[in-house]
Amino acid sequence: MATTEVDISGIAAGQAIKAVWQGKPVFLRQLTPAEIATANKVAVSELRDPQTLAERTKPGKEQWLITLGVCTHLGCVPLGAAEGENKGDYGGYFCPCHGSHYDTAARIRKGPAPKNLEVPPLTFKTDTLVEIG
Ligand code: FES
Repeated sequence: MATTEVDISGIAAGQAIKAVWQGKPVFLRQLTPAEIATANKVAVSELRDPQTLAERTKPGKEQWLITLGVCTHLGCVPLGAAEGENKGDYGGYFCPCHGSHYDTAARIRKGPAPKNLEVPPLTFKTDTLVEIG
């Protein structure tokens, strides 16, 4: 399986970048402490696809939210990774195709998408270099 290495050293808290892995968009976001707190406040049992932020990130690196940029409804690329884009009602990502809203842990909160944005296999090679795949 082909892997992609991404340098995350330039991603400030509150910012995201896009990369490509196996032809698919990947969003790499550094969450702010407020975004982490918001994600951790949610009652997981009320989620459509119940997962904690900790389950979607690596131990000790909860601020690095790395997901595919592929809506789990019909595969559009959600907005919210680029500056100024609509992050939806829950402050994460918004898919404009049919109106799916993802939260600050990229979990589906509203709209037709059935699942959270997928977390790809990933490894931190160093604190600033991530291997996806
Ligand atoms: Fe995203 Fe339908 S493809 S809401």
